[in-house]
Amino acid sequence: TTARITIDRDFTIAPVPRRLFGSFVEHMGRCVYTGIYEPGHPAADAKGFRTDVLELVKEMGPTVVRYPGGNFVSGYNWEDGVGPVADRPTRIDGAWHTIETNAFGLHEFVDWSREAGVEVMEAINLGTRGVDEARALVEYANHPGGTTWSELRRKNGAEDPFGIKLWCLGNELDGPWQIGHKTAHEYGRLAQETAKAMRLVDPSIELVAVGSSNRGMPSFGTWEHTVLTHAYEEVDYISMHAYYQEHDGDAASFLAEAVDMDEFIDGVISTIDAVKAAGKHSKNVNISFDEWNVWYQSGLDTEDQPHQVSKDWRTHPRLIEDTYNVTDAVVVGTFLHSLLRHGDRVHIANQAQLVNVIAPIRSEEGGPAWRQASFWPFARMSALARGRILRLAVTADQLETKKFGGVDAVDAAATWDEETGRLALFIANRSLDDRADVSLALRGLTATRIRSAEVLTVPENGDRFSANTQDAQDRVGLRPLEDVALVDGSLRLTLPALAWAVVELD
Ligand code: AHR
Repeated sequence: TTARITIDRDFTIAPVPRRLFGSFVEHMGRCVYTGIYEPGHPAADAKGFRTDVLELVKEMGPTVVRYPGGNFVSGYNWEDGVGPVADRPTRIDGAWHTIETNAFGLHEFVDWSREAGVEVMEAINLGTRGVDEARALVEYANHPGGTTWSELRRKNGAEDPFGIKLWCLGNELDGPWQIGHKTAHEYGRLAQETAKAMRLVDPSIELVAVGSSNRGMPSFGTWEHTVLTHAYEEVDYISMHAYYQEHDGDAASFLAEAVDMDEFIDGVISTIDAVKAAGKHSKNVNISFDEWNVWYQSGLDTEDQPHQVSKDWRTHPRLIEDTYNVTDAVVVGTFLHSLLRHGDRVHIANQAQLVNVIAPIRSEEGGPAWRQASFWPFARMSALARGRILRLAVTADQLETKKFGGVDAVDAAATWDEETGRLALFIANRSLDDRADVSLALRGLTATRIRSAEVLTVPENGDRFSANTQDAQDRVGLRPLEDVALVDGSLRLTLPALAWAVVELD
């Protein structure tokens, strides 16, 4: 296949929102316990944080991490996770049929975030709780001192406020599975009043209202419309969640799911802007795509599926520990392209989750930690997407798919950093059989050097299902992209079939 791409330095979308490269740590399965936190592990530091996992997190480069859920948060009392660990209660977590010891809580997460160099994005419980507990938590976290809640924080060892800026007003409350599920009207009013009360404690915070749990929800569209009709002025963002998987061996449709993500985002933008127009609001509400990933929710019957583990009560059962292959990694790359292409309105995005639970990083209790195939597109895009997002003109051969009809065989996104003069191209070849010959014309930009060029594709003697495992941790990764050259100021490159690549020029 072939593709022609034109880049013009004046055709830009927005500055790169660095919070697009976010991740998510939920009290679920082994994300916290034996994931980021495992006292007694040979690599654990004095606080019980796994330094081997921390090193991989730093290499992957998430900028912001959402915590502590997820479905978990809708039944969680934040007070259970603060104070002396010995005094913390042991609770039932109904969302994941798990025993929560509360050995890890807010202070531990803030400490861990500082070590990881990430911003905290804190979700509050609007399932079983409401306005009062939310404003108490903001006071506990962000008020300097001299009040009951802020002094309790200081007594618990944090002299200075945590300064948490970004807050989620609950999680997936449109979903019947959610503890404290609500109608759009109930939630819209609750979000509005909770937001108001939280801001009265700290006016500098940014707030995310709950959007639809996925595009297929029967209330998708009307949920966002109703919630924002109530809370437009009080919130800054509305959330989106989406998980994708390959169905019935239809890899072509799966590889094109970024088309669905593009359409989903465009739909939410339309709804936000309809409420803006009708309500005569002047500010924009933007999008926090705070859960996205590949997740094999059907078709797997492994022991880590929720219906398998819900027989007994355990503290950190294996839950949805999906192993990601080459195909999944290419799809993850295209999701990041989609998010970047919408960076004018999607200002925050969180890949779900960070460790073990549908995660780019895996770890074993007492054992090693390693990178999944899907680690690589995230790590490179987080490192290299700098400056402004460029609007690409792509003319590509079409691939036929059952779900979307004809789609571009080549999917791409790019950024240009005026300060360093660096241009980063992120590009995927969705074809399972054919290589892609790509030419990139640069207008108003001069590139004289290829700084780096790497590709993730099917490894030697492997296939599209090849993946990294505990015993073969580096089977899938990035290798140098050989077929790439600057010819008369234009870039020419050839991608192997089923590939994701990154080229950096200056
Ligand atoms: O990330 C796993 C789960 O998916 C989250 O807890 C929930 O918000 C979503 O349904």
